[in-house]
Amino acid sequence: MKVKTIWHCASCGQKHVKWQGQCTTCREWNTLTEEVEPQEKTSRHTPLLKAKKTPVRLSEIQEETQIRISTELTELDRILGGGIVPGSLCLIGGEPGIGKSTLSLQLAAGICKKGRKVLYVSGEESLEQISLRAKRLNIQSDNLLFFNDTEVSSITSQIEQLKPDLVIVDSIQIVYREELSSSPGSVTQIRESTASFLQVAKQLNAAIFIVGHVTKSGDIAGPKILEHLVDTVLYFDGDKQLHFRLLRVIKNRFGPTDEVAVFQMDSDGLKQIRNPSQLFLEERSQGASGSVIIPSLEGSSSILIEVQALVTKTFYPNPSRKSTGLDPNRLALLLAVLEKRSKLPLHQCDVFVSVTGGFRIQEPAADLGILLSIASSFCNKPFCSKTFVAGEVGLAGEIRAIRRLESRIKEGIQMGFSRCVVPKRNLKGLHKSFHDKIQITGVEWTEEVIDEIMR
Ligand code: TYD
Ligand code: MG
Repeated sequence: MKVKTIWHCASCGQKHVKWQGQCTTCREWNTLTEEVEPQEKTSRHTPLLKAKKTPVRLSEIQEETQIRISTELTELDRILGGGIVPGSLCLIGGEPGIGKSTLSLQLAAGICKKGRKVLYVSGEESLEQISLRAKRLNIQSDNLLFFNDTEVSSITSQIEQLKPDLVIVDSIQIVYREELSSSPGSVTQIRESTASFLQVAKQLNAAIFIVGHVTKSGDIAGPKILEHLVDTVLYFDGDKQLHFRLLRVIKNRFGPTDEVAVFQMDSDGLKQIRNPSQLFLEERSQGASGSVIIPSLEGSSSILIEVQALVTKTFYPNPSRKSTGLDPNRLALLLAVLEKRSKLPLHQCDVFVSVTGGFRIQEPAADLGILLSIASSFCNKPFCSKTFVAGEVGLAGEIRAIRRLESRIKEGIQMGFSRCVVPKRNLKGLHKSFHDKIQITGVEWTEEVIDEIMR
């Protein structure tokens, strides 16, 4: 039979019949890799004809009450929606060295303590390396079995034999299916291997955690194309230089998405941080100009974080605008609003803005805080350290309503703030009891708050 080769885009997984420099779907360059097309079965319909399945009504579906496996990491349980669902497939993505293997080993150990069996398949590290890591993390358990293999069928046969409650595959880029000719880590291998694990997970009702590396630019084959195959996607994020790690739920078929758990990487493993606001606020520079506290909505809760700005006179023709943890386009827009509406001559200044703690701000509710931090640094006047700020800024300098103000104010009250500056439009629906606990200032225009700093 003639062997057919195809070209797969490593970034988006799109198939192409011939090589080309740029993928026409995702527009990435140099991402096409040649692979032998897997042989398709002669008839795709046979299994459907054999299966005697009939459609059912919604009322006839019997819901099974799911018993979830709880891990020792309560924060992980919380973001998963109450623990690991047996028979589910979960992907933990993140850059190399962020702590995926450490988290996997810790969660495995926690489950073993409750008398459950875990199989840890390690293709990347030798058994000696894992043993060293386990010692460092102070892990000892007879229910935790390690298996150093990378061939999918030998892994699945071990799963069938041992019937563990949880399997960890570290990592998906290194496992391969023998019958496919492409190399481990290629799109076909990753997809087909995951499909095999999915089948085993559902058949044996074992939860499987797949570890997958993603680089910052996302150009490594893999995890992105798996997102639709798996039940849950966790993304491990954070600044490697700092010790904080954010574990985000990107997709969850059994619980809420967008939830975040904060961890700290210590010399003896990851520690969960139950009150991240406190940790981030401890490090703040009290009384310095350019520092403003904003409440960032992370899933169902809010975290108070500090935004810092530094505005200095520029000595070059092109002023520099640099930001960490913030979209540069958003920064440009806020600078334009300040320049036009508040008449601050920022075109003569270099502007640097950073979000502390390795956070990345995505929601527009942070706009007003960022704007104020820039104005505060420009005027060299500190903003009140007992006040936090939330609000979206429009192009006319108007302050727009934001989502879930209650959750943000609650966190502020808990952290001992005495005042908050929020959009006036949000105040109508706000419960009266909040006014007793904190001074709430509603604002409509950016000038109102800028004037307060200038005074
Ligand atoms: P690791 O879990 O190997 O990352 P990944 O699997 O995502 O590639 O974690 C690697 C980093 O974590 C490494 O730089 C060492 C550090 N580390 C600690 O700081 N403390 C620890 O207890 C452990 C096990 C690792
Ligand atoms: Mg690893």
